Amino acid sequence: MSGGQFDTINRERLRGGHGVKWGALQSDVLASWVADMDFGTPPAVRNAISEVVERHDLGYPFWRGEDPVIEAFEARMNSLHGWNPSPGRTRIYTDLIQVLQVMIEHSTAPGDGIAIHVPTYPPFLATIERSGRRIIPLPMVDVGGSWGFDPEGLTGRLRQENCRMLVLVNPQNPTGRVFTAGELASLARTSEELDLVVLSDEIHADLTFDDQRHIPFASLGKDAESRTITATSATKAFNIAGMRCAVAHVGPQSVWDALDSEPLDYFGQPSILSRVATVAAWTQSEPWLAQLKATLSANRQIIRLWTHDLPYEVKHYAPEATYLAWLDLSSAGVDQGDPAADLELRARVRLSQGAEFSQHTAIDTTAFVRINFATSKSNLLDILGRIRGATTRPAARAWSEKSCVF
Ligand SMILES: Cc1ncc(COP(=O)(O)O)c(C=O)c1O
Repeated sequence: MSGGQFDTINRERLRGGHGVKWGALQSDVLASWVADMDFGTPPAVRNAISEVVERHDLGYPFWRGEDPVIEAFEARMNSLHGWNPSPGRTRIYTDLIQVLQVMIEHSTAPGDGIAIHVPTYPPFLATIERSGRRIIPLPMVDVGGSWGFDPEGLTGRLRQENCRMLVLVNPQNPTGRVFTAGELASLARTSEELDLVVLSDEIHADLTFDDQRHIPFASLGKDAESRTITATSATKAFNIAGMRCAVAHVGPQSVWDALDSEPLDYFGQPSILSRVATVAAWTQSEPWLAQLKATLSANRQIIRLWTHDLPYEVKHYAPEATYLAWLDLSSAGVDQGDPAADLELRARVRLSQGAEFSQHTAIDTTAFVRINFATSKSNLLDILGRIRGATTRPAARAWSEKSCVF
């Protein structure tokens, strides 16, 4: 495997494919929005897919014995996190949005409250809203040096609001926080007191930086495991989001029983390709993941330096995980009604619009944008340079990594 996979990207290849990230844009706009990476996929994943294609093995899936995706998930949780998922309690799904929809349906009733940290992954807010349940936002606030939430009085507030479920996104999107053992323990206490079902989305768990340690919520103890649905996939860390294969380990007995009474076709059927890709990612791609994380870590530092060097203040805390950076542009020279749209127009860069991450709540994140930094260094510098150019006076010097002072 060459480092070249991370050093350079081929914009023409990306624009010419079927991926929405680049395909949906005008030809002079740089893509820094949807959470796909520009790096391609691990060699073992490509080989596994090619072997299936060479065998013309594209029929309905069948494996004798345990599904290899579930085996790979259970082994990975054990080896990376010391958590042993209960055997026989994991199912495969096509994606995490599907998991959320199914679990809302089977563990809450219309009108119930569902707590979730906000800002958060926009389709989750849209899904809760559409389901007729009530979003109870847990605001991610500036706690001095990082984003965090206030556990003080949380149990009482959630009781009052008839909360029945907690949707935990950890590592968190878009702030990139990796919740600490203390933060998770406080959420576990609240969940136990209120008898909540916890849906723990751990899709970004492989993408932690430095000495950050991901702790599966279900690993906190017997009670936590018995009320937690752990949902994850290989799609973010190994760049195979279009494959559509995810897993959910279901702790709550009542939810498991309810799911068991559904017909199999209710759950959809991830393809052979998606399953062999997931297994190859989870069992044969650690060297690729290590190289990826080194690249992302360097890019994260470039963004940090860039924000320090800007002639106006941008609130930004370097993410502890993910390849996403959450930036407050309220002091920047951009249209404060929709910074992302303004930057697409003037900087020719597509970012994720901040307002979407707090939709259907009273929290206002209009002044924010989310940058996807899973790209080559030179493309990232181009993106940041364009944003700087559009948000400062035309006479401002062009930004380069070397020009940073702080
Ligand atoms: C926190 C989080 N959960 C879920 C998803 C989407 O997962 P899926 O494509 O499996 O629905 C994303 C995608 O970016 C995400 O960031």
